[in-house]
Formats: sequence, C-alpha cells, structure tokens
Amino acid sequence: MVSKPHGGRLVYRVLKDSRRERILDEISELPRVDIDRDTAVDLENIAYGIYSPLTGFMVREDFESVLDLMRLSNDLPWTMPITLDVSKEDAESFEEGDQIAIYSEGTPIATMVVEDIYEYDKKNYARMVFKTEDPNHPGVARVYNKRELLVGGPIELLNHLPNQYERYTLRPIETRVVFRERGWRTIVGFQTRNAPHIGHEYIQKTSLAFVDGLFINPVIGRKKPGDFRDEVILKAYETLIANYYPKKSVVLSIVRYEMKYAGPREAIHHAIMRKNFGCTHFIVGRDHAGVGNYYGPYEAQEIFNEFPDLGITPLFFREFFYCRRCGGIVHEKICPHDENVRLRFSGTMIRRHIMEGKAPPEEVIRPEVAETILSFEKPFVE
Ligand code: ADX
Repeated sequence: MVSKPHGGRLVYRVLKDSRRERILDEISELPRVDIDRDTAVDLENIAYGIYSPLTGFMVREDFESVLDLMRLSNDLPWTMPITLDVSKEDAESFEEGDQIAIYSEGTPIATMVVEDIYEYDKKNYARMVFKTEDPNHPGVARVYNKRELLVGGPIELLNHLPNQYERYTLRPIETRVVFRERGWRTIVGFQTRNAPHIGHEYIQKTSLAFVDGLFINPVIGRKKPGDFRDEVILKAYETLIANYYPKKSVVLSIVRYEMKYAGPREAIHHAIMRKNFGCTHFIVGRDHAGVGNYYGPYEAQEIFNEFPDLGITPLFFREFFYCRRCGGIVHEKICPHDENVRLRFSGTMIRRHIMEGKAPPEEVIRPEVAETILSFEKPFVE
C-alpha cells in the first residue's frame, strides 16, 4: 500500500478556473507581501501537499512547538519551521483575519488568510534547528536574513513559479497514481542533491532489494558554488538508470526545494516529504543533509529513534566505499582492511577529476555517468 500522507490527508491548495481568475482580478486591492525564492518554494510545496498536513505558513503555536518539541501543536512529528517573514512596515498594512496577496519576483503567486502575526528570536531559531548560532552555517545565515516578524495562516496558490524542469516534475497526486499503476506496495524514497556516484547507487540498490520500487527524488534549487548544476544531476541520473537499473523498478522525478543543511532535523523533514509522495521507506546514509562539521556522521539516523510514530520506515546505511582487497563496495562493518586500500567517495576528489576534464576512477563513478557529466561545458555552479 502506498503510504498515507502525513496527518492522514493529502493537502491540495492550488486554485483553478473562475475562482482563480476572480481573485487575480481583484488582487491589487489586497495588502501585498513580497517573498524571497526560498519562501516561494516552500509555499508551492505546501500547495501541492508535499508538506501535508500544513495548509499554510506556521502560526506561533506550531512554530514554537516545532522548535521545542519537534512536533506540531497536534503532536504530529515535524522538525523544520515553515515560516513567512515580513517587515514591521509590511505588517502595518494588515491585521489578523485579513486576506493578503503574496508576490514572488513581481508576480502574485498566492493569497493567505492571516491568522497570526508574531515576533521570534532568531538565535533561538538557529540554535534549536541547526544546533549552532554560527552565521557561517548557510541555514543559519538565511534565518538571520529573515525579516522581523512571522505571519501564519492558510494559503492558496494562484500561479506557479517558473519551472524549467516541468517535464521531470511529479507532484504527490501524480506519484501516488504512478506507484499504484505499477502495483508497488513498498517504495523507498531517495533524497539527493548530487550527481550519482557508486556509493549512491549501492545504497539505492541495497534498499531496492527489500522493496518493490525506488523513487529517486533529486532536489532542484539554489546550489553552492562547486555543486553540480541541476541539469547535470538530472542527465547523470538518466544515464545511470538507462545503463544500470531495471526501468520497471525506478521512478525519477525532481522536487523543488531549497536545502537548509539542518542535518538530523532536515532528515526527518525529507522523510515526511517522501511519505507525502507515497513512499513507505526512506534512505538515510552518512551525513544526510549535513554541511561542514556541524553534525556527527550518523546523527541524522539517530534522531529517528525519537519518532516511532513517523509513519515511514527509515533505512540506514553506513558509509560505503570501495575496498581494493575486498574487490567491491563495502562498509566498515563488513570490511576488515586498512584505510590505504580503501577508496572513499569524496565529492572533492570527484570534482577535481571533472575539473581536469578526466573521468574519476571507475570504482567511484560509472564511466557512462562520467562521460555525461564531462559532456557539459560547465558541470558546476560558479
Ligand atoms: S544530501 O544532502 O541530499 O544528503 P547527497 O545527495 O550526497 O546529500 O546524499 C544523498 C543520500 O545518500 C543521503 O542519505 C546520504 O547520507 C547518502 N550518502 C551519500 N554518500 C554516501 C556514502 N558514501 N555512503 C553512504 N551513504 C551516502
């Protein structure tokens, strides 16, 4: 059975036809709030039920409960605040109970009924979610850049954000149909922000050995300089699947999402998102959603102990590497050999080879995948 959405019901808040047109006709009469790209992406994810059961941005009660208890105020597991920040000047133009218009890059994308306007402590937000107040942490830096107040309430989507990867995009209403059509009862979700190396392939295939289907779900969004560009990630996966995967066992589709790099808390959030897509299982490997050295390599796995009621089963993996003595991909639990015969899947090493126009070793990246990556003039974000 495809997984039930988190909270029991798949949220869908996309306005269509005459109601949408009527609201758009009168939109200029509503108080206006402009939001940044990150918040707009969250909004679209709310509208399509990827963040079910959220129907809008968090009110104070949920926000504080998420920070303190990692649960919504109704006790449902939830680890990441999903917030809309506004300036004091913005907030002067509306009050609780009003409907407001939300704009992204000059286009009205949604309306929201304001249920709550509240202050918050940024350092506390950062410490609770990211376990650090360090402004060098990219997720913390974004919290510090938010405006002074938060506004909560239900939203309705009027316009999509431009999406150059529409062809690769399936929403939860669609993935649920695809999974059912394929007759899959158990589906494992895989989150990634990288082009696939053989370590990724191994954890996916090891998982697939135990379930009916694999849902590869790369996140598309802002990247750091040196990261693979979105297009490269997609093409690399297409090549990998075409050459090495039984097609009937895999679905590849993207999700637009801005990585927060919150390690353990974000791993839970990633699992909930994939539960809403219909997955019954979710892969968590080494340093999931980590950045720098802020989190221990397996902290993102340990946090799952606190959520026996999550409703999606995590599959945990130690770090995979290639061992020359074993002659294959292994991990420390099953390989007794020395570090000097081990080849680890280091992003830095892969990048170095690609930058020099060379394919990384075959033990690290499939040659066809390397060739696809090398066919791009600029594989990395600059
Ligand atoms: S992440 O930010 O999305 O976690 P990435 O795309 O590199 O980064 O990883 C996707 C998933 O693969 C995560 O669950 C991560 O823990 C796992 N992973 C990546 N490399 C390895 C590896 N060598 N061994 C085990 N798991 C790995």
